[in-house]
Amino acid sequence: MSSRTLDGKSAIVTGGASGIGGAITKLFVARGARVVVVDLQEEAGEALARELGDAVVFQRGDVSDRNVADTAVASAVERFGSLDVLVNNASVSRQKPFEEQTDDDWNLAMDTGLYATRNFMLAALPELKKTGNACVINFGSGAGLNGQPNQASYAATKEAIRGLSRVAANEWAEFNIRVNVVCPMALTAGVVQWAQARPEQYAQSAAAVPLGRFGDPDRDVAPIVAFLASDDARYMTGQTVMADGGAVKLR
Ligand SMILES: NC(=O)c1ccc[n+]([C@@H]2O[C@H](COP(=O)([O-])OP(=O)(O)OC[C@H]3O[C@@H](n4cnc5c(N)ncnc54)[C@H](O)[C@@H]3O)[C@@H](O)[C@H]2O)c1
Repeated sequence: MSSRTLDGKSAIVTGGASGIGGAITKLFVARGARVVVVDLQEEAGEALARELGDAVVFQRGDVSDRNVADTAVASAVERFGSLDVLVNNASVSRQKPFEEQTDDDWNLAMDTGLYATRNFMLAALPELKKTGNACVINFGSGAGLNGQPNQASYAATKEAIRGLSRVAANEWAEFNIRVNVVCPMALTAGVVQWAQARPEQYAQSAAAVPLGRFGDPDRDVAPIVAFLASDDARYMTGQTVMADGGAVKLR
């Protein structure tokens, strides 16, 4: 079986400079795709672009800014000739009890989560339609599915993304644009920070993973995203796929 399952595909990966997004960028390129990486971290983004060469264009930008979505789509088309895959991975939030979360906390979660996902999907739609075989991969979270304490704004934005994804899967099926959601669980820098801030919650979450560990972004999560982006997943749309070692079992 060829490992170049993404040969010829052009992708945008938001938050693609580090963490799970960085792992996705690297694996997409290894499997033959070319990627526009949109991220706030200039140094990490430039380093990745140097490492991966012509297959990567780095665009520094904040996903909450609608213009950034338009520019990313324009760069994918200009540099790679089309846009086949959109991965809405970037998202940030602050963790506090619901009653302590301010408007600013809610705006951060919604702007970088739900609204960024919506804006990138809308900006990408005309190009995705043109390919006749495209897909969107959005990011949810077990925190939303489980109602994780201290995650009110984050859980709300992530569950809204799942709802939006199901609607778009139905509406965009006629253009053969598949829309799926991945809920990962992986030991990234952000999770390490959370684990240090809330060791009890972390220990509880790790103990609840049937496969006994938090995932590795490169080996456990990125391959699931690459599968969804490939034609091997051509008959899957509107799904939430748990990349979490079996922690949540959807029915
Ligand atoms: N890591 C996990 O276990 C876990 C669990 C559930 C869901 N998720 C979801 O998976 C996705 C990736 O998670 P992660 O742990 O790799 O996150 P992370 O915080 O480690 O990395 C996110 C990347 O996005 C970039 N970024 C942050 N804000 C941005 C902005 N406003 N504009 C552009 N880029 C921005 C960061 O610079 C970073 O490169 C997120 O949607 C997250 O909610 C992760």
